[in-house]
Amino acid sequence: MHSSIATALLTVASSVLAQDFSNDGNYGSPFPDTTYPGFESTNPYAIAGSLSNQTSPPKYPSPWGEGLGEWASAYSKARAFVSQLTLEEKVNLTTGTGWELDRCVGQTGSIPRLAFRALCLQDSPVGVRDTDFNSVFPAGVNVAATWDRGVAYARGQAMGYEHKGKGVDVQLGPVAGPLGRTPEGGRNWEGFSPDPVLTGVMFAETIKGTQSAGVMTSAKHYIAYEQEHFRLVPDSVNYGFNITASDSANFDDVTMHELYLWPFADGVKAGCTSVMCSYNQVNNSQACQNSYTLNYLLKGELGFQGYVMSDWLGTNSGVASVLAGLDMTMPGDSNAYDSGDSYFGANLTVAVLNGTVPAWRLDDMAMRIMAGFYFVETNITRDPINFSSWTRDTFSYEHYFVGEGWTQVNNHVNVRSDHANLIRSIGARSTVLLKNVNNTLPLTGNEPLTAVFGDDAGPNSNGPNGCPDRGCDDGTLGMAWGSGSAELPYLVTPDTAIQNTVLAAGGAYESVLSNGALDKMGSLARRANVSIVFANADSGEWFVQVDRNLGDRNNLTLWQGADEAIAMVAGSCSNTILVVHSVGPVLLEKYASNPNITAILWAGVPGQESGNSIADVLYGHVNPGAKLPFTIGANRTDYGTDVLYTPNGDVPQIDFREGVFIDYRAFDSHNSTPTYEFGFGLSYTTFNYSNLQITKLDAGDYVPFTGYTSEAPTYGNFSTDPAAHLFPANFSRVPLYQYPWLNSTNLTEASSDPQYAAPGSFPVNAQNGSAQRIPKAGGAPGGNPMLYDVLYRVQATITNTGSVAGEEVPQLYISRGGPHDPIRELRGFERLSLQPNGSTTFSVDVTRRDVSSWDPVEQDWVVRNTTKRVWVGRSSRKMELEGVLA
Ligand code: NOJ
Repeated sequence: MHSSIATALLTVASSVLAQDFSNDGNYGSPFPDTTYPGFESTNPYAIAGSLSNQTSPPKYPSPWGEGLGEWASAYSKARAFVSQLTLEEKVNLTTGTGWELDRCVGQTGSIPRLAFRALCLQDSPVGVRDTDFNSVFPAGVNVAATWDRGVAYARGQAMGYEHKGKGVDVQLGPVAGPLGRTPEGGRNWEGFSPDPVLTGVMFAETIKGTQSAGVMTSAKHYIAYEQEHFRLVPDSVNYGFNITASDSANFDDVTMHELYLWPFADGVKAGCTSVMCSYNQVNNSQACQNSYTLNYLLKGELGFQGYVMSDWLGTNSGVASVLAGLDMTMPGDSNAYDSGDSYFGANLTVAVLNGTVPAWRLDDMAMRIMAGFYFVETNITRDPINFSSWTRDTFSYEHYFVGEGWTQVNNHVNVRSDHANLIRSIGARSTVLLKNVNNTLPLTGNEPLTAVFGDDAGPNSNGPNGCPDRGCDDGTLGMAWGSGSAELPYLVTPDTAIQNTVLAAGGAYESVLSNGALDKMGSLARRANVSIVFANADSGEWFVQVDRNLGDRNNLTLWQGADEAIAMVAGSCSNTILVVHSVGPVLLEKYASNPNITAILWAGVPGQESGNSIADVLYGHVNPGAKLPFTIGANRTDYGTDVLYTPNGDVPQIDFREGVFIDYRAFDSHNSTPTYEFGFGLSYTTFNYSNLQITKLDAGDYVPFTGYTSEAPTYGNFSTDPAAHLFPANFSRVPLYQYPWLNSTNLTEASSDPQYAAPGSFPVNAQNGSAQRIPKAGGAPGGNPMLYDVLYRVQATITNTGSVAGEEVPQLYISRGGPHDPIRELRGFERLSLQPNGSTTFSVDVTRRDVSSWDPVEQDWVVRNTTKRVWVGRSSRKMELEGVLA
């Protein structure tokens, strides 16, 4: 068994290395370094655009980390550690041991000689996945709806502590890709908002919060992973789609910088320790071996000092990926789970020994990983991993998939702390009040008969975790599906929470929790003083399909037959309140205008305290202050973008022809009226906006960065004799597990790599470790520091003119004034808390980046000589104050 695995490894070396570079665009093509192909448009509003089959230019070598900015001390500690490592120990840091072969969703090799246990990488962005006694937090889309930086930080930190308490080293989140190009996109809810500024702020605060708990983050998925369909070949084939490679997101350099890369710049600036590259291709080069997006943009321009890990099975080659900037492969296996082979592992050892991967590159990979570790951690010795992702049983196999190592795998550590209060509060503070006729809300609790309706108000018939990975839509939607989910410790349903509230106030309460029971709904609604009907729309990740939705939603309508239920209730009761739990926009136009529907609330995907959160808002314990983090359009087609549901070729080509014009930017430029616009949300009080003040600050002129890197450093020595890298004698191997050691001393036979045989065919500079020029827009984590200089301060006075305390989110929009720019773009916001008659100053620092445009020829940001207008408003369509940045 073991020796046949060894042979498999060597055979894999040939096949793996043989396909190197095949997907890296035209790596040998003569694109000059400063231009970007495909810079053409069919969009009348945009200089941006896309072309099918456009390619991604080659950018080599892969920049080495240098300990820039706040990373200096982490780099010096990493240097001390990595200098002690053998070749195999370095390789071990870069390679997952294999799917279900250790306890975490992803786990690297370890370095027992230095008491460094494996790194444990664990989902998800809403809590610790695949364990017990953890909390489930509101989803990213809810965090965005709070527009509250403090909420993002506090939630990130609480999730960080929970991961830490389980022995997790890297939380696989947060999410800024998908950004939300199409409202149907299956995983938009894991991220924040289709607006890059709102997402960037929430992404950065989450990263800072999580990392403050001593846990690394994996900012994902990089980049342009905007739909689930066709992300991976095997899944697609399983669903009956005949494709030969992952879909390619095709778009231009302006759209890249002004939209999709923007939040990642914020994430890098915030110190994210790792970035997860995505499954899709970007301009026909796999995101995990795309030298333009990884080497040039992320590590070059954004000055990213941490490491790039692949999404699970997102690695498509060995040497090509390493040279293009991939630092860690997850979960370690190549091509299929538990294939027993890897693109890294022993193949990476071979590649370093035969010189196809320069030693400095492996050193850089190890340095980046260890620097990430020391960026958040002080001690090599950490608490053990105290759970297994693969079973809730107390005893099971350490190496689960192959049934080896029977031991106690779950300690059932309760990491929930008092996070329920935070979760409840975020749930309420992320609930958007969309309609409230004649102050229907808040309810008093004195209504004689309160009636609640809908599947979405009740429990899952099989319990809160009744469907693996939450892959069903049964009961209230506390969480959507896929790897972005976690096991619920409980789920407070709206039915339970509202009943508790009503009973405490002495009222009567009845509910009908089946949308199929229309007649019963009608008869109850006719008797009720207030009817609250719950409805939802779900989505998730491609590996689970729910009701024929393959991750992405098939439409923007409500699920579970909710439209019929709403029609029945609203047709029977003239005081009907609609509450929507959804992953994103749903079509509400007919409800917005229905006079019997007196109030509408959007509550998103609120997590375990769902019912308590909505009851807090309905009964006025929390005054809603949330605003929509996306546009609710009147028609699906108004968005101007959609998922590609049917392949348009062997390699599906998704052309982002809209450029930067997604969500409200599209509605504004097409002049279509949404049902509820981006940034909209009501309160139980009212606010007045006054006194706009614009102050120009003296930041000086922008200076493009001009420096060079050092030469690529190397740390420690290794023997070039293959015999020194064979498996240790009498080593007992776990089947299918990835090891860094070789089975044979014959490297040529081991690799038979055409790139190795003809080294001249490597991309130019791929192995060049000499000092490199740093991009003009680069120079520090997040990009050229001068981009963040404050050029203007814009201030306004916000006053609570109602009779109750409340929270308001004034929003600052600008127009950059160019003929191809969006009409307005969000650039600042603040959630303010105000007592009745209280006033406060809303203040936004407008940075150079905020008023700059990406110039693809200069390859730098420029402030164009145009009139730049600024507005302060209560939503993207309700501008209260206007001025000019001058
Ligand atoms: C695939 C998903 O795309 C990613 O988000 C997740 O972290 C990994 N699987 C691990 O579960």
